[in-house]
Amino acid sequence: MNDLLDLMWGLLERGVRDRTLATNRPTLATGGGQMRTVVLRAVSRAAQTLDIHSDARAGKVAQLRADPTANLHVWDTHNTLQIRIRAAAQVHRDDQIAAKAFTALPDHGQRIYRVTPHPGTPIADPRHITFEGQPHFALIRLHLQEVELLHLDRDVHRRALFTAGENWRGRWLVP
Ligand SMILES: Cc1cc2nc3c(=O)[nH]c(=O)nc-3n(C[C@H](O)[C@H](O)[C@H](O)COP(=O)(O)O)c2cc1C
Repeated sequence: MNDLLDLMWGLLERGVRDRTLATNRPTLATGGGQMRTVVLRAVSRAAQTLDIHSDARAGKVAQLRADPTANLHVWDTHNTLQIRIRAAAQVHRDDQIAAKAFTALPDHGQRIYRVTPHPGTPIADPRHITFEGQPHFALIRLHLQEVELLHLDRDVHRRALFTAGENWRGRWLVP
C-alpha cells in the first residue's frame, strides 16, 4: 500500500519542477466548495506540506482564514492515479516564509501581486489595471491531514486512505 503513497509524493515533488505533470496544477477547494486551479510551488514530504502562492486579497485567502480546511485534487492520467488531499491551511503574509518565497520569484512573477484594483473587482475593460501598487503576496502552506488515493489498473483497482492521526498507516477501501 505504501507504494501508492510513494507514487503520490514522487509525483508531487516532480510536479513542482515539471509543468507537464498533472500534479503541477492541482485543483484547490476551500470552505463552501469553491474550486480553482493553482500551481504547486513547493513540497516537503518530511514536513508533510505543500505550498501555493496567491494574492493575499484573493477570495481563497479570505475563505481559508475563515475556515482553514482545504482540499486538493489531482487526476494524473498518465499514472491513472486520483489524489484527494485534506489539509489544514496556514496563510503566510509578511513573515519570513512569505518573504523568502517572494524574493525568489522573477520580476514578472512578483509583478502580478501588485495588481490594482484588487483581484475580483468588477472592471469595464480587462486593460483597466495597473501593476504599480504594493505587492500583496501570500504563501498558503497546506499541512496534510488525510490522503485518499485511487489507482486504476487493468487487473485491480486500488483505493487507500492514509491519515496523519494514524501516522500515515494506510487502509484499503472498496474502490
Ligand atoms: C493554469 C492556472 C494556474 C493558476 N495558478 C494559480 C496560483 O498558483 N495561485 C493563484 O492564486 N491563482 C492561480 N490561478 C488562478 C485561480 O485559478 C483563480 O482564478 C484565482 O486565484 C482567483 O481565485 P479566488 O478568487 O478563488 O481566490 C491559476 C489559474 C490557472 C488557469
